Amino acid sequence: MSKNIMEYETVDLDDHDSSVVIIDQTKLPGTTEIIRLHTAQEIWDAIYLLKVRGAPAIGVAAAFGIYVLSKEILKNINFEQEQEKAFAEFYEKFSEQKEYLNSSRPTAVNLSWALNRMETICLKAGKEEKKSVEEVVEALHREAIAIKEEDIWVCKTIGEFGLSLVKPGDGILTHCNAGQLATSKYGTATAPIYLGQERGYNFHVFADETRPLLQGARLTAYELHSSGVDVTLICDNMSAMVMKNGWVNAVFVGCDRVAANGDAANKIGTSVVATVAKRYGVPFYVCAPTSTIDYDTPTGAEIKIEQRPAGEVTEMWYKERMAPEGVKVFNPAFDVTDNDLITAIVTEYGIARAPFKESLEEIRKQKQEAKAEKE
Ligand code: MRU
Repeated sequence: MSKNIMEYETVDLDDHDSSVVIIDQTKLPGTTEIIRLHTAQEIWDAIYLLKVRGAPAIGVAAAFGIYVLSKEILKNINFEQEQEKAFAEFYEKFSEQKEYLNSSRPTAVNLSWALNRMETICLKAGKEEKKSVEEVVEALHREAIAIKEEDIWVCKTIGEFGLSLVKPGDGILTHCNAGQLATSKYGTATAPIYLGQERGYNFHVFADETRPLLQGARLTAYELHSSGVDVTLICDNMSAMVMKNGWVNAVFVGCDRVAANGDAANKIGTSVVATVAKRYGVPFYVCAPTSTIDYDTPTGAEIKIEQRPAGEVTEMWYKERMAPEGVKVFNPAFDVTDNDLITAIVTEYGIARAPFKESLEEIRKQKQEAKAEKE
């Protein structure tokens, strides 16, 4: 019997084979193909081509990726030289690979967040603690594993907070895929749905198909349906109707980068859903791991929005091209939802409400305190 999609790891590490192991999400739901990424080019392509996608999963893939590449760098280090020089040689190559992976997609801050976290560990072990390069690579291994494990806890905790915002029998609408396939487990926007399902909440979920890459149809509808959740797929232009009909009690979406003022970048079309939700008085919740909050970006206006190839709009998924040759195409992968359209931002350290600048600062404080307590 074939395995349920929920039984697969979205991103994994095969240390023995020195590879990042992912489900090729471009082939879902028709084909479940597990692929192994060994080289920097393979990892970069997998992120750029959305074989692995969704902000937290991109972060985990990058962390495993830079670790795998570090093992490769280690093989070519000249160990005849002093330890300090060996580390300098290692770090130079590490930085090059880090920058390269970081250039694969611009909007999801989890990519740079995970790579920076790996770099901090690298410098701490190699420079501050003067460990050998082999030990630096071991520290990178531990950190990459920790990033993935934390992601599971983060999503589950977001799910618990999210669940406190809805009640049994509610209708929930979601856009794109902020599900298990976008994270290590549970998803962010889907975490309240999965936890609710375990507890008999009987939610009715509407999944926007999410043009142009159909993450809602191919991934969210697939994973929710495979989990036995009552899910109805709708086209992106149907959200106003289902909300007007009173079928939606809450919208949960994920995000790729939240600015310090609460403006949130997520999959293109999210801000349309938020605008419609406001019109019909439906609460609009952004589920955001704190790794997605970018306190260095003051507002949504400074968030870099990825532009993607025109073919994704004109011909991808169709048997034949569906737009005239030579027509101009605008294909931004994300949009920014203004903070005044957001009812609350649900993080693993609590629920932030307007004014977001202050409430997100409070979340940051909570996180720092929890970290200090752990150390
Ligand atoms: O282009 P994608 O598929 O990577 O976009 C994904 C999204 O927009 C998700 O909602 C976001 O990354 C959050 S995933 C928990």
